[in-house]
Amino acid sequence: MSLTPTKDDKFSFGLWTIGYNGADPFGGPTRPALDVVHVVEKLAEIGAYGLTFHDDDLFAFGSTDAERQKQIDRLKGALADTGLIVPMATTNLFSAPVFKDGGLTSNDRGVRRYSLRKIMRNIDLAAELGAETYVAWGGREGAEYDSAKDIRMALERYKEAFNFLGQYVLDKGYNMRFAIEPKPNEPRGDILLPTVGHALAFINELDHPELVGLNPEVGHEQMAGLNFQAGIAQALWHEKLYHIDLNGQRGIKYDQDLVFGHGDLHNAFALVDLLENGGVAGGPAYTGPRHFDYKPSRTEDENGVWESAKANIRTYLLLKERAKAFRADAEVQEALKAAQVDQLVLPTLNEGETAADLVADRSAFEEFDTDAYFGGKGFNFVRLQQLATEHLMGARG
Ligand code: GCO
Ligand code: MN
Ligand code: MN
Repeated sequence: MSLTPTKDDKFSFGLWTIGYNGADPFGGPTRPALDVVHVVEKLAEIGAYGLTFHDDDLFAFGSTDAERQKQIDRLKGALADTGLIVPMATTNLFSAPVFKDGGLTSNDRGVRRYSLRKIMRNIDLAAELGAETYVAWGGREGAEYDSAKDIRMALERYKEAFNFLGQYVLDKGYNMRFAIEPKPNEPRGDILLPTVGHALAFINELDHPELVGLNPEVGHEQMAGLNFQAGIAQALWHEKLYHIDLNGQRGIKYDQDLVFGHGDLHNAFALVDLLENGGVAGGPAYTGPRHFDYKPSRTEDENGVWESAKANIRTYLLLKERAKAFRADAEVQEALKAAQVDQLVLPTLNEGETAADLVADRSAFEEFDTDAYFGGKGFNFVRLQQLATEHLMGARG
């Protein structure tokens, strides 16, 4: 397998990721901002297929129409020159001070109406550039103080916004779906729709649930102490994995946005194995963009920016290669069998079996000798995990 990426690998990066200047709440920038044309050229050079952006990444908040158009034209020129595409775009509803209490769920109605207009305007641009996914990360949709935000009413306004924007996309005839990006906290003390599970439940309350899916981010679920791979499996089961933000995080702390794999490498291995090989069902389980939403570390210069961008790609491809070897290993196949992983495909009831039928089956309960059947019998899971670990370390195959 080749470690040289091609456009078919669908690696994409946010303009805000590569363009991050290293500023944090404790200190100023360590690098100058990068120009979008330069970014597109470099991304093409390292083998990415796509660039994603927030409106304000491309043209500064408050730009005149002419300034905005100039940047759009420069981006279009760079895309035409390199063949890069824009698979996803999104709206910045968090940087400008007006959004300090959120955009779509701000207590201030004027801010909510302004936010809808800002999103509509950038959806039009996204459609013009061919983006099929529109991400909604509600970074400031939340609160620090319980009595300051009526959460039920905030969810009502959030729902109103997605219903309105869904209808807007339908009326315009755009080929575009929304992807909600959950995050538990930061910058708000608590953010609405904090995890994959919360967002999935919310989507079911919308007028057009088929228009809205998820954009889960590795670090965000891990900030909540959750297993990212398991969350992605559930999103896939609901057919809601519309996009994905890959990065690295080490435990429950601030959002680190490290390079993919530079956090929980075991879970990254399991994730790539799931996306590419699909478990018992077979793969690939996900065919959308492999989007890196990381931040080149604040210690790095521009050379470090591109080294870390390449590191994301290389780690993903290495894990894909390792996961393939894992699946191809006869001993792994045997260990999977010993662990009965394939047995979950069997329905628990026979076809058409009723409650009365099950009660009539004495072997299922009255004659089911739990001690004789199960006593002392292990599931062999640890052996399987060690085999995965050894493949991950390159110690096998
Ligand atoms: C974060 C988020 C953002 C979003 C981006 C797209 O924690 O800062 O991950 O990077 O992904 O704003 O909407
Ligand atoms: Mn993040
Ligand atoms: Mn993200």
